[in-house]
Amino acid sequence: MTRATPIRSIAPDNPDAPALIEAAEILLAGGLVAFPTETVYGLGADATNPEAVARIFSAKGRPSTNPLIVHTDGPELARRCVSHWSEAAETLARHFWPGPLTLVLPRSALIPDLVTGGRDTVGVRVPDVPVARSLISRVGRPLAAPSANRSTGISPTRAEHVSQALNGRIDLILDAGPTAVGLESTVLDLTSDPPRILRPGPIQAEALSLTLGRTVLERHALTFEHNLDEPAASPGLMAIHYAPRTLAIRVEPGEPIPPLPSADRIAVLSIGPAAEAFGPFGVRLRIDLADPKRAARVLYDALHHCDASGAELILVLMPPDLPDWAAVRDRLLRATQPA
Ligand code: TXA
Ligand code: MG
Repeated sequence: MTRATPIRSIAPDNPDAPALIEAAEILLAGGLVAFPTETVYGLGADATNPEAVARIFSAKGRPSTNPLIVHTDGPELARRCVSHWSEAAETLARHFWPGPLTLVLPRSALIPDLVTGGRDTVGVRVPDVPVARSLISRVGRPLAAPSANRSTGISPTRAEHVSQALNGRIDLILDAGPTAVGLESTVLDLTSDPPRILRPGPIQAEALSLTLGRTVLERHALTFEHNLDEPAASPGLMAIHYAPRTLAIRVEPGEPIPPLPSADRIAVLSIGPAAEAFGPFGVRLRIDLADPKRAARVLYDALHHCDASGAELILVLMPPDLPDWAAVRDRLLRATQPA
């Protein structure tokens, strides 16, 4: 049997925690460490070490064509990862970093092919958790870090989720409690004109557009369904992703609820201000999330609970198709099938 992965508790705002020394040593030796960010837990490796990066893909079971986000402790290290730091990058970095915004830019020679899936661009971001930045500073190199789950599974918002998915496959887990934001960063492509969102997230198109003073193309939830046959601009935009193990079906607001198995075999996830009044009652598990920020924070935890409840089916009552719900809807569309 493989060795169980140790978990070290750490305060999110203590950059001097002893566990960071151990974590930095592992990373410098080419190992894998799961660490907290404000969005989800990341599975980190030294981004400049191709063998270390290769371990991420095998621990996750991730296709090697899907590029990894590179995390840095500030804009300075991020600039060294890219070959052209544009004015737009400077403006957005000043405004939104540290924070849940990944900027896709032309990559520099510091970043190996494996990180970017052979692309000539790289996604960079600075996480908004002091221990994450302190870890990167101690390593002194950028960290490649996808979400710390098995490929296509539900992203981890707690160290327990990481452990359930990757125990024995990685070297260390840093546990700083549940993450504050709960959904992955917004991914913005700055190599296209106008800039366009590749993955909706906590920072919305409107805020980006106001800050840049120019149009930012949104990614409407429907486009990925319409474009399933086109090669994805970002391979992480594959349709099935973020999915629970249990069959999950979605019902849009105003649509009738289809015939279902008996109530005690269903978990209901009702999301959005109007959803609470609908759906079957007396079910095995029911979770109501009316507010977009709270829904983002606890969505993955709720999906993990639904999986653990033993329900045969998860019924997802969808939130409305409005900008505030874009990121939550995007993840739910990928986690569910139409009713
Ligand atoms: O919040 C987050 O972004 C988390 C935490 C750990 O930072 N990370 C995360 O990584 O969600 P991952 O690997 O699960 O998702 C990365 C997404 C994928 O959709 C990937 O295709 C896209 O970012 N991406 C990364 N580099 C890219 C590039 N050069 N061009 C286009 N898309 C890119
Ligand atoms: Mg992921």
